[in-house]
Parts: sequence; C-alpha cells; structure tokens
Amino acid sequence: MSALFQPFKLKDVSLRNRIAVPPMCQYMAVEGKVNDWHLSHYASIARGGAGLVIVEATAVSPEGRITPGCTGIWSDALGQAFVPVVQAIKAAGAVPGIQIGHAGRKASANRPWEGDDHIAADDARGWDTLSPSAIAYGRGLPKVPKAMSLDDIARVRQDFVNAAVRAREAGFEWLELHFAHGYLGQSFFSAHANQRDDLYGGSVENRARFLLETLRAVREVWPEHLALTVRFGVLEYDGRDEETLMESIGVVRQFKDSGMDMISVTIGFTIPEVQIPWGPAFLGPIAKRVREEAAVPVSSAWGFGTPALAEQAVKDGQLDLVMVGRSHLVNPHWTYQAAKELGVERPSWTLPAPYAHWLERY
Ligand SMILES: Cc1cc2nc3c(=O)[nH]c(=O)nc-3n(C[C@H](O)[C@H](O)[C@H](O)COP(=O)(O)O)c2cc1C
Repeated sequence: MSALFQPFKLKDVSLRNRIAVPPMCQYMAVEGKVNDWHLSHYASIARGGAGLVIVEATAVSPEGRITPGCTGIWSDALGQAFVPVVQAIKAAGAVPGIQIGHAGRKASANRPWEGDDHIAADDARGWDTLSPSAIAYGRGLPKVPKAMSLDDIARVRQDFVNAAVRAREAGFEWLELHFAHGYLGQSFFSAHANQRDDLYGGSVENRARFLLETLRAVREVWPEHLALTVRFGVLEYDGRDEETLMESIGVVRQFKDSGMDMISVTIGFTIPEVQIPWGPAFLGPIAKRVREEAAVPVSSAWGFGTPALAEQAVKDGQLDLVMVGRSHLVNPHWTYQAAKELGVERPSWTLPAPYAHWLERY
C-alpha cells in the first residue's frame, strides 16, 4: 500500500493524497492581477491529481512583489480575480492554497529569464525596497533597501492580515505565509540581513518577533478550521547550520503555539555566498528533525520529484506532505505517473474522467 497515496487531513481540510504542488511564481501577472495564463496553468496542474495546489507567492503590497510580473492581493479587486483559479482547482478535486508574501530587499527585480537582477535605478519599472536593515543582498541584487521604521513594520503586518482576509474571500482553504527564501520574513530572522538594535533585531526572540506577530495577527482572521502553514528556511548552509537549525526549531515550536498548523521546511537563501548540497531529496533528514523535535506536521520540496523518493519520504516519517514542483511543470500529470509506478490500484483515476476512462478501456 502506497504511503504517498494515503489521504491527509489538516484541520478540516482533507487532501486526496500526500502530493502537493508548491508555490511557483509564473511572473505573468499584470499590475498584480492573475489572468488566463494562471487559470490554465493551475487548472491543468490540479487536474493532474495532486492533493494540494498552492498558488505562487502573492504580494501583500505592491512593493512586496519580487518582479513586476508577480501576482498581488493588495486590493479587493485583485483578491476577487483569484476566484476562477480557486474554482478550477477545486473542480479538479484538489485543495486550493495560496502563499502570501513580501519580497523585502529582493523586490524590484527583473523576471528570472530577463536577468533575475534588480531593475536598473534609472528604469521607471523599479521601486524602493524595504528590509529590517539597510543592507543589500548582493550579487545581482545590489539595491540598498530602506531600514523599516516601526510604522513600516506595523503596516506590512496589517498588509498580511488584509491579504489573508481577501484570500479567504476568494475561496482559498489553505494559506501559507512566505517567511523563506531571503524575502522579508526570512530577512527579519537572519542575522545576515537583520542588524537592528531595537525589539526586532539582535536576540533570536527579537529576530523572530515580526514573523510571530504577523502569524498571530493572520491567525485571528484566518478561520480556525482551515489550514495555516508557514514556509521557513531553517538553515542557510553558511557554516553555522547546527546552530541555526536549533534556533529555527525553537521558532517553529513558537509558530505552532501561535496557531501554525504545518511547517514547510526549506532553505534561507539570505546570502549568496553559500554551498548548498543539492541532491535528490537532500532536505529529507533535516525535515525529519524538525518534524520530530518540534512535533509538528512537515512538508518540504527540492528534489522529491521521483515517485520512489516521494514515497520513501512519507514512509520514513520525513514528511507528511511531499512538495513536487518542477516535475509538475514538465508533466502536470505527475501524480498519475507516480500512481502507476507505485502500483496504486486503478492509477488512471488520479486523472479526470474524460482522460481516465479511455486509459482504462483500451
Ligand atoms: C518557477 C519556480 C517558481 C518558484 N516560486 C516560488 C514561490 O513563489 N514561492 C516559494 O516559496 N518557492 C518558490 N519556488 C520554489 C519551489 O516552491 C520549490 O521549492 C522548488 O521548485 C524545489 O522543488 P522541486 O525540486 O520539486 O522543483 C519556485 C520554484 C520554481 C522552479
């Protein structure tokens, strides 16, 4: 019996299996608004059979976009534009999720295939960026951000809350806070990016404050019966990983006590000068430690897109949910392929009937 194909329940949200499509930016929005590209992309992926489809990092404010092509949810109109996407994901039998975030000092960038670097200072498409301290990321992202004032912090926290309300009004059932990948939340937590000497910097407790305050404020408006998760980089591969991991596990416990239902374990990406040991399923053992030491449900990504590896991660107790990203871009019906390879009974029925019927018949 496949572990990957067992159903999964978080709060009142039931997933048909342990396969999730992680947030993947499409960089195809105009002024933050989703369009036909997003509708066909998410509908097609949801029809593939995954239990959960999380819509890409969606900015809580215009300056929180990574690029001008990123989706946004800073107005009611932008929120309502997601309704057809939500309905398409649900109609395909998957749970609709969305990741909301703020890109911090990595904002105001060109799309990955157009440079992946900061928009030039004299280019009107760019904008001023925000971060806990006025420290640039470096490499292709040299723009020095404004160090956030306490008013800025309160405003962005409220932007997250407003975004959560709009996500619910659009019909999403799973909300993920993007506190990872070197964007704003991760930058507050990282001593590399955060050198504040007030309540929001210095000690672990202070560096976690923005994340915890934002999480608690969001939990107040996000329905108790729906899933609220956090994506968080638990280490940087900067040579002090055991220390960072221990700090992170402590913060994950606090996330749990503050209303988080599940953690998505990932990498910090706060500094460019790191040696990441890329390899198939390489975060599995780290995820398992977080799962056991923080006693919280865990998902993770990066190289789990081989059915046998995904199956093993669940069987070994590394992950409760397996995020399969790029493999879904290659094959939206990855779940069908996995079901076949893992010997699931009637694998065709991971697909919609207009496809499945013909595969069973001939
Ligand atoms: C095109 C693309 C866009 C991505 N956008 C996001 C994003 O919006 N939010 C996020 O947390 N991670 C993002 N990621 C990272 C993925 O969620 C995932 O962690 C990564 O693709 C590794 O999983 P994989 O090996 O299964 O592809 C993105 C990755 C890709 C390839």
